[in-house]
Amino acid sequence: MSGLADLADIGRDTRRGGYSRHGFDRAEADMRLWFFEQSTRHGLDVYTDVNGNIWSWWGRPGPDAVVTGSHLDSVPGGGAFDGPLGVTSALDAVDALRAKGFQPKRPFAIVVFVEEEGGRFGVPCLGSRLLTGAIDPDRARNLADPNGITLAEAATNAGVDPAHLGPDPVLDNVGCFVELHVEQGRLLGNHPIGVASSILAHGRWRFTVTGEGNHAGSTELADRHDPMLPAATAVLAARQAIVGSASRATIGRLVPNPGGTNVIASSVDFWLDARGDDTRKILDEITAAARSAADAEGCQLTVREESFGEAVHFDAALRDRIQGILPGVPVVPTGAGHDAGILAARVPTAMLFVRNPTGISHAPAEHAEPSDCAAGTQALADVLEDLCR
Ligand code: GLV
Ligand code: MN
Ligand code: MN
Repeated sequence: MSGLADLADIGRDTRRGGYSRHGFDRAEADMRLWFFEQSTRHGLDVYTDVNGNIWSWWGRPGPDAVVTGSHLDSVPGGGAFDGPLGVTSALDAVDALRAKGFQPKRPFAIVVFVEEEGGRFGVPCLGSRLLTGAIDPDRARNLADPNGITLAEAATNAGVDPAHLGPDPVLDNVGCFVELHVEQGRLLGNHPIGVASSILAHGRWRFTVTGEGNHAGSTELADRHDPMLPAATAVLAARQAIVGSASRATIGRLVPNPGGTNVIASSVDFWLDARGDDTRKILDEITAAARSAADAEGCQLTVREESFGEAVHFDAALRDRIQGILPGVPVVPTGAGHDAGILAARVPTAMLFVRNPTGISHAPAEHAEPSDCAAGTQALADVLEDLCR
């Protein structure tokens, strides 16, 4: 927990509340600096891979390593725990293992992945996707933030050479990956700790509706081509699409251009985040509703996929082993995305969850009690000790 206290003042968002820390921005740079310093204080050797993901090694790097870690970026106005808890718990677990005189017999590292939330460049798990080859580096280099700054430019400013983005040989050394994370619903009930079974399939799409910019007062009904109407239809269709379904559909970001109170927008961008087994069906339903509203309003609609990931089922053998180490720990699914879900395509991967009494995440009310965080650290230390024997 002490690490979370160190980070408490970095990247506070006074306008939205909570924290805004994004890939390669000032706040994330300060978080990374803190992690560098902590790694040194913990006697860990730091290696920054070609994508800016930071690996801190306890002893010599080598094959079949046990790796834990998470991310330090947030969504806009996010909570204090999503990401940082997995990093601070990893450092605390190293302290706990050192205190009992434990020496890992397998190579061991803590990793911090860049831009897990996609809060700046739109694609979630960008650092782990680049590392594993799950995104084309050329596409990644050209991703732009809301101010038009490309990932290539932001990486350069952060001292990461964008020419080298992509797979890094460090991945060949990873034998397994265990990510500790705050739970993002209320699935743990009476249990302070859980272990993950699966992650929902997850896609993000950018919708652009183009209409005709005009005067809010002088434009008569027959002359309006207002892109906000198809956007509103899409929002309602997103809710309708998940009624009676276990899937999720959210439109949480909508940007009218130019965005004036007395201006009919010339265009509107909005983003659909959809998750679950019928994600493509949901996308089709929402697209059809938005397209027919766009036709009726004399507007044009374009839809572009920004990211998609199939459902993840974590490694059963590793999960069984963790259940043996942590008797009685419940196994729960999650609807949230994680770097562990990306790593799972390449190495045996598991996740530990720490109870979240609010059930709220990606918002300032996200919470975990100190005693549950301590239980999480102990559980992680126990798992790492067993895996590193
Ligand atoms: C990331 O946390 C996501 O689930 O979008
Ligand atoms: Mn998150
Ligand atoms: Mn996270």
